Amino acid sequence: MFESKAGILFIAGIGFFAFAFLSNAVVPMVMYKDLPEQTAEQVVNDKLMYQFDELSRRYPGAFREHIGEPTVENCADALRLGKQVYVGEGCWHCHSQFVRPVSNDSKRFGQVSETWEYQNELQRPVMFGTRRVGPDLSREGGRRGSDWHAVHFFKPKMVSPDSPMPEYPWLFDGAPDQPNGRGLALITYVQWLGSWLDTYPYYEELDAEKMEESF
Ligand code: HEC
Repeated sequence: MFESKAGILFIAGIGFFAFAFLSNAVVPMVMYKDLPEQTAEQVVNDKLMYQFDELSRRYPGAFREHIGEPTVENCADALRLGKQVYVGEGCWHCHSQFVRPVSNDSKRFGQVSETWEYQNELQRPVMFGTRRVGPDLSREGGRRGSDWHAVHFFKPKMVSPDSPMPEYPWLFDGAPDQPNGRGLALITYVQWLGSWLDTYPYYEELDAEKMEESF
């Protein structure tokens, strides 16, 4: 068998698999084994808290019922649940979370993704995705208001007339202004994406008075 073409291809196949496993799994594991993985609580930052607080004022009834107070702990729980909803609803079938260093990706989506961005609990498993029916979402946070996301998740065509994105009415208690716990969590998760970068848009210093004025 080893002298036939099939035998050579067979051995080459195993060889390439072993090489890929070494370079893509073993080497990164060894490189980053001393980098502590951050928890959801640790990745909550001021920018996200600004959005979370805003969410609590925009949908006060729903927020109080499903989340409670806009605290860091509740925000971390919302992120965990939001990630689960993202996985469960199959958002990753159509959206990637990786700005690639090719094809001018950075012109469209922002700075190229780096390894450290994925070193936390919410990136297990990573949502790199493979298909891009919709845009990359790794810098989505802050690009849109939470009310835009609510309407968009309820019925994408309401804000994006030709959108092929499915509707998610089960993330609401009825209307687009009544997101339920899973809806609020998904919005929080989407607003988190990219909040670890300085490029996060629409962000003012967390300032209670200034926020009060804007409502
Ligand atoms: C069938 C493919 C498909 C699925 C599944 C899908 N989307 Fe989309 N999504 C799109 C397309 C296409 C767009 C661009 C048009 C639009 O704005 O609706 C989009 C747009 C978006 C945007 C707006 C991006 C921007 O700022 O312009 C967000 C946020 C988003 N999707 C999140 C999600 C989430 C979260 C889920 C899972 C609950 C999801 N999508 C599921 C295809 C999809």
